[in-house]
Amino acid sequence: MTSPNPTLDATSDHGQTEDQPMGGNAAEHLWLHFSRMAGYATKPVPVIERGEGAYIWDTNGKKYLDALSGLFVVQAGHGREELAEVMAAQARKLAFFPIWSYAHPTAIELADRLAAEAPGDLNKVFFSTGGAEAVETAWKVAKQYYKLIGKPGKHKVISRAIAYHGTTQGALSITGVPPFKTPFEPLVPGSHRVPNTNFYRAPQHVGHDEKEFGRWAADRIEEAILAEGPDSVAAVFVEPVQNAGGCFVPPPGYFERVREICDTYDVLLVSDEVICAYGRLGTMFGAQKYGYQPDIITSAKGLTSGYSPLGAAIISDRVFEPFNSGNTTFPHGYTFGGHPVSCAVALANLDLFEREDLLGNVQRNENALRQTLEKLYDLPIVGDVRGDGYFYGIELVKDKNSKERFTREESERILRGYISGALYDNGLYCRTDDRGDTVVQVAPMLTSDQAIFDEMEQKLRFVLEKAWTLI
Ligand SMILES: Cc1ncc(COP(=O)(O)O)c(C=O)c1O
Repeated sequence: MTSPNPTLDATSDHGQTEDQPMGGNAAEHLWLHFSRMAGYATKPVPVIERGEGAYIWDTNGKKYLDALSGLFVVQAGHGREELAEVMAAQARKLAFFPIWSYAHPTAIELADRLAAEAPGDLNKVFFSTGGAEAVETAWKVAKQYYKLIGKPGKHKVISRAIAYHGTTQGALSITGVPPFKTPFEPLVPGSHRVPNTNFYRAPQHVGHDEKEFGRWAADRIEEAILAEGPDSVAAVFVEPVQNAGGCFVPPPGYFERVREICDTYDVLLVSDEVICAYGRLGTMFGAQKYGYQPDIITSAKGLTSGYSPLGAAIISDRVFEPFNSGNTTFPHGYTFGGHPVSCAVALANLDLFEREDLLGNVQRNENALRQTLEKLYDLPIVGDVRGDGYFYGIELVKDKNSKERFTREESERILRGYISGALYDNGLYCRTDDRGDTVVQVAPMLTSDQAIFDEMEQKLRFVLEKAWTLI
C-alpha cells in the first residue's frame, strides 16, 4: 500500500493509506487546494501536526524530512520559538491595523529593510498577503503607470510557457499552465506566452549551446512584443528560476537580453520571485544571483518563513514616480496586506537570516547539493537534474538517450500511482509534478547541510530504483 501523496499538485492523486488512518474524515468539510476531492472518499487525508527544524510529523507520530520547505516557504525551519515569541508580542501590542492611509511601525520598518535589500532603485514596497496578490499588484501598477505617463494602450503581459504565477484571475491569466486556466475562461485578456528556458528540451537548432539557446529564448520575447505591438505591451513576467516544469535556470546572457528588450520597447520587467527571493538561491533576491535589474519584484513565501502570510511587490522609483503627483491614487489594496504580526515576524526572520548567515550557508553548500543530487544520474529513470541554490528539479524519463517522455497514462501510473506515495511512505516530503514534463522537486530549508542532502538522495534513490521496475 502506498501512503498519501505529498505533491500538493493539481494533477496528483493520493495513495492508499490503509496502514495510516490519518485524517479520518478531514475531507468532509475541508476543501483541499488543488486536490482530487473524490479520492478522499476511500482514502484519508494526510495530516501533518508538528514541525521542528527540517522535519515534520503526522498525527500517527511518523516523521518525515520536509524537503520542500512546506511549499518553498519555511526557509529558517519549523518550530522556531523566537519567531513565535515575536508574533505573540506583536499581537499583544497591536494585532491589527490596516495600511490604508495609515501606517504602523512594523510595516514601515519592513518596507525600509526590503528597499535597502532590493537591487538598484527598487524602493517602494506594496504589501499583500501572498504571491498571487503581489502579481496582481504588479500588473495593475504596470497598467496604471502607462496610463499616467500617457501611454494608455500599454496593458498586455508577456510570460512564459508552463510558468505558474498564481490563481487569482489576473495572475492566472499570466500563468502558462493550460489545465489550470481552462475551467475559468474567459480570463483577463491580454496575456501572451513565450518559450521558457528549459535547456534540456531546447529546440535542436539551439540545443548544443546554452548561450545561443538563451539568446533564442529571450528573442522570442521581442518577437511577441512586436507581434502584439509595443504600444500595447506593459510588462514581461519572468521568474529567476522557473518553478513549474521543474526548475528551469536562465542560460548565460538570458536576462541581459531580456532587460535590453524591455528597455528597447519600454516594457516593465517584473521578476516574479515568490519562490526565488529570500535566500532560495543563496541571495536575498533572485535577480541579484543573475545580475539583472527588474522594474518590479514580486515576492511572498519565504519572507516570513511561513510563520504568517505576507507578500510584497517592490517597485522602482521610476515606476512609482507618476503615482507620487497631485491627487493620484493607486486604487488597490488588501485588508490584511502588511499585517502587523506578519511584518514583525518577517523582520525577525530576516534578523535570523543574518545571525545564522543563512544566505552564506546556501552559497557554501549549493554545489554540494547539486553534486549529491547528480549522483542520481546513475539511475536509468533520471534524465536531468537542474536548478540552482537550494531549488532543484529531477526530470524522469523513459529513455535517457532519446529523452523520451512518459505518456500521460504512464506518468499517472508511475508518478502519481507509485512515486509520490512511496516517497512519502519512506519519510520524504517533496513534490512530484507533471504540469510540464515528469519531475520530482526538492527545496530544502536554508539551514540544510550535507546530512540532509544525503538523506534526500538516499530516499529518492530507493524509490526511483523501484519505480524503474514498474515501467
Ligand atoms: C512564481 C510564483 N508566483 C506566484 C505564486 C502564487 O503565490 P500564492 O500561492 O502565495 O498566491 C506562486 C506560488 O507558488 C509562485 O510560485
